[in-house]
Amino acid sequence: MSYENLLLDQPEPGLYLLTLDRPRALNALNAATLTEISAALDEVRADAGARVLLVTGAGDKAFVAGADIAEMQAYTPMQARAFSAHGMAVMHAIEALPIPVIALVNGYALGGGCELALSCDWILASETAVFGQPEVKLGIPPGFGGTQRLTRLVGRAMALELLTTARQVKAAEALALRLVNHVYPAAELRARGLEMARAIAANGPIAVRIAKQCAHRGLDLDLANACVLETQSFALSFATADQKEGMSAFLEKRPPKFSGD
Ligand code: CAA
Repeated sequence: MSYENLLLDQPEPGLYLLTLDRPRALNALNAATLTEISAALDEVRADAGARVLLVTGAGDKAFVAGADIAEMQAYTPMQARAFSAHGMAVMHAIEALPIPVIALVNGYALGGGCELALSCDWILASETAVFGQPEVKLGIPPGFGGTQRLTRLVGRAMALELLTTARQVKAAEALALRLVNHVYPAAELRARGLEMARAIAANGPIAVRIAKQCAHRGLDLDLANACVLETQSFALSFATADQKEGMSAFLEKRPPKFSGD
């Protein structure tokens, strides 16, 4: 399928790269782009061979500069509600994708762009990355989950500082805040992302999916129930061919060949 505002490529088998591509608006998210992201996620979800999704922005200036301000400007409250619900649904769909999703933040990740990165499982940033939730400068709060996911990732106090001052955070500080996992020179970001994706794809695909699901679902549970979820998932994995192959390969001192069954 082809899209107007994004590209969905498969640089290697099982590895998908979604590139937001609206250069005239620094890849800002309008309703049409949100709809296209949903469709792209459907494509990835439908592929049983999908292992990792990488998300980045076209060009060297922006990951995504936010929700589209020109489109939002004349919204009524009900239109704003629908737009926020649309964005929320897309962010939830990214989070709920069964495979790991890694944001490659290659420039400005502001407002809805920061929220898009936060909905990915983790973030790799270029040295040129800039994060921020500048919505309050526009007289609005974040609308795609920023007040929630930023708070959960960096803690309430720092999140509130960033949400209320609109201060922008450069890559080195983002690393110190654990907003991003790693920072790389801009020219290396994509290759480093692919290298990490390849390492994930070499592991048991069902186990990777289970690990993601347990980590996410467990965060909404108390520790004891979250650990029950993990125990049940651990037991289930012993019904897979991948468990047999992974353990046999270890004992036979050879690399595993996972089938995803
Ligand atoms: N929406 C629509 N258009 C945008 C945009 C956005 N979020 N961000 C940038 N653009 C457009 C600019 O209007 C400009 O268009 P023209 O060339 O037609 O004038 C073009 O992209 C290039 O931008 P600048 O000239 O501003 O580039 P710059 O290098 O001077 O500044 C920037 C870059 C700091 C990212 C600046 O563009 C900026 O501050 N953008 C807005 C950031 C922002 O406020 N984001 C939050 C949006 S609200 C939101 O996201 C709500 C939510 O949570 C759902």
